[in-house]
Amino acid sequence: MRFFTLKVVEVRTETADTVTVAFKQPGLKKVKYQAGQYLTLMFRINGRRYIRPYSFSSAPLIDVNLEVTIKRLPGGVVSNHIIDTLKVDDMVEVMEPMGDFTLNEAALTPSTHIVLWGAGSGITPLMSIAKYALHKNLAAHVTLVYGNRNAESVIFLDKIKALQTQFGSHFSAWHFHTQPAIAPENPNLLQGRINPEKVLSVMKSEDKLANTIHYICGPSGLKESVRAALTGLGVSVNNVYSEDFEVVRDPAEFEGIITRSVSVTLNGVTNRVEVVKGKSILEAGLDALLDMPYSCQTGNCLVCKGRVVKGGVKMIGVQKLPEGLAKGESLLCSSFPLTDGCVIEID
Ligand SMILES: Cc1cc2nc3c(=O)[nH]c(=O)nc-3n(C[C@H](O)[C@H](O)[C@H](O)COP(=O)(O)OP(=O)(O)OC[C@H]3O[C@@H](n4cnc5c(N)ncnc54)[C@H](O)[C@@H]3O)c2cc1C
Ligand code: FES
Repeated sequence: MRFFTLKVVEVRTETADTVTVAFKQPGLKKVKYQAGQYLTLMFRINGRRYIRPYSFSSAPLIDVNLEVTIKRLPGGVVSNHIIDTLKVDDMVEVMEPMGDFTLNEAALTPSTHIVLWGAGSGITPLMSIAKYALHKNLAAHVTLVYGNRNAESVIFLDKIKALQTQFGSHFSAWHFHTQPAIAPENPNLLQGRINPEKVLSVMKSEDKLANTIHYICGPSGLKESVRAALTGLGVSVNNVYSEDFEVVRDPAEFEGIITRSVSVTLNGVTNRVEVVKGKSILEAGLDALLDMPYSCQTGNCLVCKGRVVKGGVKMIGVQKLPEGLAKGESLLCSSFPLTDGCVIEID
């Protein structure tokens, strides 16, 4: 794992609760990334280390700076810290870019139609992908379908309009707003939550559904409704990609999980950690102020992996096990102890 220390060169207000932080590319050791990947920011706040991933909103080779866009989560430790305190010239420690929510350029053809589905802060990786695909002329058409509360809460409204002006017939955007607009002038502005059937029926009638590749980033409800609509129209699951900003766990999966004591060996030092029912082994370790490694907390990046040398754990909420997990290893952000006396080792 490579680490970088980046200098903040701009903190830009996007909406009332969202800012974009621009970092300068280091002079020598450049940060290389792909559109759709994320940067993991590390902070020390009140003596405790906090690590959070933020998708790039900038696009590689197009934007000069490295940019991430952060929406304030009420009560959230890091999003509030960034929005309220981060300023130009601050230095921030980051991990190397990660994530597989990226364009598979080899699979794109001149007739590919990329469809991006997002809501709220889920726009960030989609914006990166849209800019990259359009500037690099990687697809016949890019459609963005974006859900928000109202016009004021639309992140990047001006940038979306600029893409429409610049790329004309190659780019279209649909907006869905849950609050009614007073005077909607735009035929692509619809009221309510994103209605995938509506968008797809128009695409189908315009014969734009053939050769589509879909990227979804937003709440799990959006992901499910888009996937269901696409499946209903016969779009291959191989052409549908999604990114999760948070993990949703089924309460039924927690049957038999109770508070247990776990032994965690980190950098050769062993600590006994009480894993309260409902908390993952990682969360319990962080609460005990252990500097355990992690990034996504959604079971995607492998940074939190540990060896279970004694006892049993259950992984909950991991959609697809990432490649690179050896036998006996477990993702501690998503692991819950099943037996007493579990022994975990972290390299
Ligand atoms: C791969 C990835 C990319 C991400 N990219 C972005 C991005 O581009 N922009 C952005 O603003 N955020 C992004 N996030 C979310 C971000 O990493 C943090 O989770 C978010 O900023 C909240 O952190 P916090 O410390 O403020 O809140 P915390 O103090 O960690 O959280 C408070 C509570 O809110 C819950 N929670 C966490 N995230 C969410 C959420 N999104 N919606 C509702 N509840 C939540 C947590 O479970 C927790 O219980 C991304 C997350 C992942 C995994
Ligand atoms: S922190 Fe990314 S897989 Fe656990």
